[in-house]
Amino acid sequence: MQPSETVMNPKQVFLSVLIFGVAGLLLFMYLQVWIEEQHTGGVEKRREQKATSGWEPVNYLQPVPRINKQTNRLSENLTTQHPKFLIPEDLREKNENLLLNPEKTTKVLMKTSQDQALSKTTRSASNKLLEKHQRDNTLFKKFSTMNWPLDIRPLNKSLIKDDTWKKTDEAQERRRSFLQEFCKKYSGVSRPQSHLFHMVSRIYVEDKHKILYCEVPKAGCSNWKRILMVLNGLAPSTYNISHDAVHYGKYLKKLDSFDLQGIYTRLNTYTKAVFVRDPMERLVSAFRDKFEHPNSYYHPVFGKAIIKKYRPNACKEALINGSGVKFKEFIHYLLDSHRPVGMDIHWEKVSKLCYPCLINYDFVGKFETLEEDANYFLQLIGAPKELKFPNFKDRHSSDERTNVQVVRQYLKDLTRTERQLIYDFYYLDYLMFNYTTPFL
Ligand SMILES: *[C@@H]1O[C@H](CO)[C@@H](O)[C@H](O)[C@H]1NC(C)=O
Ligand SMILES: *[C@@H]1O[C@H](CO)[C@@H](O)[C@H](O)[C@H]1NC(C)=O
Ligand SMILES: *[C@@H]1O[C@H](CO)[C@@H](O)[C@H](O)[C@H]1NC(C)=O
Ligand SMILES: *[C@@H]1O[C@H](CO)[C@@H](O)[C@H](O)[C@H]1NC(C)=O
Ligand SMILES: *[C@@H]1O[C@H](CO)[C@@H](O)[C@H](O)[C@H]1NC(C)=O
Repeated sequence: MQPSETVMNPKQVFLSVLIFGVAGLLLFMYLQVWIEEQHTGGVEKRREQKATSGWEPVNYLQPVPRINKQTNRLSENLTTQHPKFLIPEDLREKNENLLLNPEKTTKVLMKTSQDQALSKTTRSASNKLLEKHQRDNTLFKKFSTMNWPLDIRPLNKSLIKDDTWKKTDEAQERRRSFLQEFCKKYSGVSRPQSHLFHMVSRIYVEDKHKILYCEVPKAGCSNWKRILMVLNGLAPSTYNISHDAVHYGKYLKKLDSFDLQGIYTRLNTYTKAVFVRDPMERLVSAFRDKFEHPNSYYHPVFGKAIIKKYRPNACKEALINGSGVKFKEFIHYLLDSHRPVGMDIHWEKVSKLCYPCLINYDFVGKFETLEEDANYFLQLIGAPKELKFPNFKDRHSSDERTNVQVVRQYLKDLTRTERQLIYDFYYLDYLMFNYTTPFL
C-alpha cells in the first residue's frame, strides 16, 4: 500500500473539512426552514379552521372567552391589537358568503400561505408569532373576567315626543320582554362556548349614532345597510346606493374588526338592533333569490352539489351548471346531517347568526312590520327627520314578494314530515321571536 492512499495529505483534509462544513450548514438551514414551516403551518391550519367552520363554535384558542355573570368588573385596559386570525380582506369581501364554502376558502388560503412563504424572513418571523401568541393568550385571560352586558336596558325614549309610535312601541316592549323571558328560561342551552369574535362577526357598527345592527339576510338587511351608510355620512340618500355597493363595498365596519375594548364598550353602550322574519318565509325567500335566478356563486357551488346528491338520474348538463335546483331538493340538503356543502348565512338560523340570548338586543324588529319598526328605531336613535326606511326591493324587483301565499305554494311540494323537520330545524328561531307555525 502506498502511504498516499491511507494518509490524507493536508489538501485532502482541508477539502473534507470544507465539504462536511458546507453539508452541516445546509442541513442546519434546512432544519431551520422546516421548523419554521411547522410553526406557521399551524397558524394557517387554525386560520383555515376558522374560515371553513361555518357557524359552529370555534374553540381553537384557549382560554375561550366565557360569559361571566358573576364578575362585575372591567378593570384593565385592553388596547392591544385583537387576536383574531385575520382572513384575507379580498376573501371576506369577494362573495356574499365565501367563508362558508370550504373548497374556495382553502384555495385562497393556500395561495396566501404560499405568498407568505415567499416573503418570509427567517427567525424574526417566528419570534414575532410567538410573542403575538403570548399576547393573545393574556388578552383572552383578561377578557374572561370581564362583565358581559347581560341585562336588557330600558329603551331611551327621550326623543319620542308624540304618541304616533304608541302601538309600535308597545309591540316592541312585548317582544323585548318575551325574548328576555325566553333567554332566562333557556339560559342553560343558550350559553355556548362561542368564540367572541365569531359571535359578533355579523354585527355592523355605526359610530355616529351609536348603533349596532346584526345582519339577518332576507329580513330587510340590504335596506338596513343603506340606512347605516346614510347615517354614517357615506351616502346622501338610500336611493342611490346600488346592491353591489351595499354588499361588496367596504364601507361599513363590522364589530369584529375592533379590539376587545372596542367591542366591549360598544356592546355596553350602543343601541343594538336585530331584525328577524318568519323562518319559513325567510327560507323560501332565500331559495327564490339564490336558485331561481342565474347566480354565478350559488349555482356552481351549492346547486351542483345539491343536484348531484339529491337528484337521481340527473342529466349531465344540470350536473355541470348546477342550475334548476328544486325546492324539495334544497330542503333535502338543508335537513341532511351530512350536507355535501356547508350552511349559508341566507338560510342559517338567526340564533346562530346573531346570538340573541348573549348579545341582549335592545331592539327586536320584525320583517312583518319592517317599515314601522325601522322608522320607530330611527326616531329613537335621533336620525335626521327626513331619513325614512326605504321600501324597495332591489333584486328581482319584478318578482312577487315572498308572502304567506307564495310560501304555501312552495310548501305544497313537501311532505308533512318534511315541514315538521324544517320547523324543528328552526325551532329556536320560532320560539325566541314568538313565531307561530301556520304552515304545519
Ligand atoms: C386606561 O384607560 C384610562 C382611561 O382611558 C387611562 O387614563 C389610563 O392611562 C389607561 N391605563 C393604561 C394602563 O393604559
Ligand atoms: C337618552 O338620549 C338622550 C338624547 O340622545 C340623551 O341626552 C340622554 O342622556 C339619554 N339618556 C340615557 C339614560 O342614556
Ligand atoms: C348618490 O348620488 C349623489 C349625487 O347624486 C352622488 O354624489 C353620490 O356619489 C351617490 N352615491 C352613491 C353611493 O352612488
Ligand atoms: C343548465 O342545464 C339545464 C339542463 O338540465 C338547462 O335547461 C339550463 O338551461 C342550463 N342553464 C344554464 C344557465 O346554462
Ligand atoms: C305571541 O304570539 C301570539 C300568537 O301570534 C300572540 O297572541 C301573543 O300576543 C304573542 N306574544 C307576545 C309576547 O308578543
